[in-house]
Amino acid sequence: MGCPAKIAPSMLSSDFANLASEAQRMLDCGADWLHMDIMDGHFVPNLTIGAPVIKSLRKHTKAYLDCHLMVTNPLDYVEPLGEAGASGFTFHVEISKENWQELVHRIKSKGMRPGVAVRPGTPIEEVYPLVDSENPVEMVLVMTVEPGFGGQKFMPETMDKVQKLRKKYPSLDIEVDGGLGPSTIAMAASAGANCIVAGSSVFGSPEPAQVISLMRKAVDESPKVI
Ligand code: DX5
Ligand code: ZN
Repeated sequence: MGCPAKIAPSMLSSDFANLASEAQRMLDCGADWLHMDIMDGHFVPNLTIGAPVIKSLRKHTKAYLDCHLMVTNPLDYVEPLGEAGASGFTFHVEISKENWQELVHRIKSKGMRPGVAVRPGTPIEEVYPLVDSENPVEMVLVMTVEPGFGGQKFMPETMDKVQKLRKKYPSLDIEVDGGLGPSTIAMAASAGANCIVAGSSVFGSPEPAQVISLMRKAVDESPKVI
């Protein structure tokens, strides 16, 4: 299966006061991407970072900045995040039913890679039109916790959605986010996820490099349930 593992530590669990060195530490530990959680205090009850912080971090790293937009008006973020140097721009399907085509078009025109995210309660079928489109999203993020906070418990019932997606789209980037770590990676990997976001399990470990390499191995070596 041509879907290489992408391990993306969630910088929400890092020391934000030392973001550049935390980012470098994760890259030195083998991270492929840096996952950046952008929350507006409306779509989710938490407020985190926005384009100014992405812009500051971009001055310190060339890494792929995988931005997860937990905001009610993602369209307003496309221009500033593109200018700031974001790499991936993943918006939520729940608030983009009317304008996803425009969003995808504008994300690509700013040189970013579009993705779509689903909350645990949202049926996976809602993303199919976005993947099947002539101008498709390039990644689907299946939330494995309710978005908003790090450190929550992985929801195994979301794995049905990952399996369905993998069966339908053998070469799509499928990301999972929330509660991933050594004890849950096997479920996600065997369901077919290849992009793994992990916050507390990586930053909370005395050996983040070992956690990252264990998760990569699980993805690369897992027999896929298809
Ligand atoms: C939650 C965020 C996640 C979060 C994951 O809404 O989207 O990226 O940081 O953190 P852990 O791995 O601790 O669940
Ligand atoms: Zn996230």
